[in-house]
Amino acid sequence: MRVLVTHASRHGSTAEVADRIARALIAGGVQANAQPVNHVGDIAGYDGVVIGSSVYFGRWTRDAVAFVERNRTDLAGRHVWLFSVGPLGDQPRTDPADVAEFAMSLNAVGHHLFTGALDLHRLSFPERVIVKGVKAPIGDFRDWDEIDASAATIARHLKQAA
Ligand SMILES: Cc1cc2nc3c(=O)[nH]c(=O)nc-3n(C[C@H](O)[C@H](O)[C@H](O)COP(=O)(O)O)c2cc1C
Repeated sequence: MRVLVTHASRHGSTAEVADRIARALIAGGVQANAQPVNHVGDIAGYDGVVIGSSVYFGRWTRDAVAFVERNRTDLAGRHVWLFSVGPLGDQPRTDPADVAEFAMSLNAVGHHLFTGALDLHRLSFPERVIVKGVKAPIGDFRDWDEIDASAATIARHLKQAA
């Protein structure tokens, strides 16, 4: 089983989650590699695809949405998982708007919403103004145990399917 973990990340925290998922899949006995959505050519060689995006203003990033749109046909015959990286601190864990439709139309095995990270130094000036305005929690809230557990579930599913 070969699995692609592909991600759209504006400031790097989602890319790090994708790398972690790929490493955990490998540890679980699955051949996996992580790549940004814009570097992915053909997904034909993969049995499974894990697609992740950071969440901005309640939505997946444009690059992640575009990846799903241009690969819809090829994704149809594959094991697909989705993940989103967003909520900070004790912010409500609200699924991004696009995900329910994607999960249904791609017949995804699952979607996981992970807590994210916010580093003021990585943000653009307008983003800094916004996060200060809404008093967004600053820090790294990613739960690596939860991420590893989610990857282990994916690995188990793939091994059973093989
Ligand atoms: C301007 C701005 C808007 C955001 N909007 C949301 C949001 O609507 N929902 C959410 O869960 N997280 C939101 N976040 C938090 C990010 O999703 C979180 O910081 C994530 O880890 C960023 O991922 P990245 O580093 O891969 O870009 C927002 C962050 C910023 C800076």
